[in-house]
Amino acid sequence: MRWFIWAALGCLVAIQPSYIHPDEHFQSLEILAIKFGQIKGSIPWEFDSANAARSFIPLYLNYGFIFKFFDHVRPRLLLSIVRLQNFLTYLWAYKFALAHIGHSYEADFLISTSYITSCYQSHSFSNSLETVLLLVVLSLYNDLIRLRHKRHCLESVLLGITIALGIFNRITFPVFIVVPSFIVFWQFYRKSLFSLAVFTAALLCSIAAFIYTDTLLYNSTHYVIAPWNNLRYNLDVSNLAQHGLHPWYTHFLINLPQLVGPSILFVQAPRRSLRTLANNMPLLSIYSGITLLSIFKHQELRFLIPLAPLFFMCSHFRESWNKIGVYIWIAFNLFMGIIMGCLHQSGVIRLLDAMRQDKLEVHVWWKTYSPPTWMYANKNLVASTTNFVNDTEKVENVDFSIVHDHVVDLKGCDTNLLNYTLTQFLSQNAQVALLAPKSVSSLLNLLNTTFRFIPTRSSNLHLDLDHIDIADSASWSMGLIQYNVIRNDYAHYYTSIVNN
Ligand SMILES: *[C@@H]1O[C@H](CO)[C@@H](O)[C@H](O)[C@H]1NC(C)=O
Repeated sequence: MRWFIWAALGCLVAIQPSYIHPDEHFQSLEILAIKFGQIKGSIPWEFDSANAARSFIPLYLNYGFIFKFFDHVRPRLLLSIVRLQNFLTYLWAYKFALAHIGHSYEADFLISTSYITSCYQSHSFSNSLETVLLLVVLSLYNDLIRLRHKRHCLESVLLGITIALGIFNRITFPVFIVVPSFIVFWQFYRKSLFSLAVFTAALLCSIAAFIYTDTLLYNSTHYVIAPWNNLRYNLDVSNLAQHGLHPWYTHFLINLPQLVGPSILFVQAPRRSLRTLANNMPLLSIYSGITLLSIFKHQELRFLIPLAPLFFMCSHFRESWNKIGVYIWIAFNLFMGIIMGCLHQSGVIRLLDAMRQDKLEVHVWWKTYSPPTWMYANKNLVASTTNFVNDTEKVENVDFSIVHDHVVDLKGCDTNLLNYTLTQFLSQNAQVALLAPKSVSSLLNLLNTTFRFIPTRSSNLHLDLDHIDIADSASWSMGLIQYNVIRNDYAHYYTSIVNN
């Protein structure tokens, strides 16, 4: 009964319009909306056919059904359906893992109440799917070494397909299973070469089928091996530097504690013999994942989310974990659920939904996360953004003569570049709408001599964590505002039109 209350609460958070990271849109829903809906949007470099560094297979398998059948619903509703599906898939996957690897009340409670479940697993990250695939692989591994049959053909086929899918979903998938795979090979496959042959055949056939399908979908003249193209990119440190370099301990000291929250204070490592530890698939996977991911220099929290359920599955409560521990845990997750699951950048999604019937002229987004352009569902959309020349941000790729169906993502650029962009568009007599968070209103005031900003629409439930400035109280305010921008020297015309 309690589980259902937590699951219902999780569902409610899952379908809120928060926006955690651009990848949840641009590396999944954006691509599918362009493929299925014949709309225009922004294709990230990974999916550009010149690079072909991401496979379409996991996207089609995971979301193809939704995009096929809910193609014409409101984008905001489609987003909720996607999140609900991901949330329910994850509930199934972790229950499956608990049933196969060993059920514990603690793990069930921690996973179902964790904010990672409702906020991250429900969003359309490739990392969320990675968690589900990892749980399936570890469950099957556990069966192979626990149930001592001579052969495990069905399991081996499923393993081959799931591992291939994992690799095509994210190139980091192998790091989570290296150590567990070694144990499974030693304890099972070494002694059952027939099963090993079945597994290898299933793996290779899946890989071949995926390469073939990607080649067709990319319309390429040579074979597209997406994970290989991705790996080549990621092994080059100068490429990773563009995404930010972190010290090696970031995952261990900063990301992991954020991921599992205060539960870290109340759990203890299982006190068992070395032999049982060596058979503990979740523990081996955590060890394998953290160690190998720490070698890479780009370390984000969401890379670790597959480890959250594994960590909880290894958790055993200390004596001190009683009422007070439970309250601290629940308070932490409610807080994070509200921040990350309901409010974070959510004005972007809310306003995109609110203005979906408007005629689109020029929309300039400033100091927000990149607007998911697929939500405009516009067949003529032109999406442009800033570029960098020697670390200086420019708008060289923005064509100011396009004054219809044009969305410009100025990202976090400075006021001068905003000033320049608005001036260019207004000199073409464009109708310009600016979308900017309330937290930067002091910066916007600097341009008051040149422009008049007339608020036309707003969403108060927009939390901007990126522009907080201790000295500026306005920077703490929540909200995203849509302004009509007019030149100050024209402002009196506008007032007379409105008054008449
Ligand atoms: C914005 O640009 C205009 C015209 O280019 C200029 O006159 C004005 O001083 C600029 N405003 C700021 C705050 O830089």
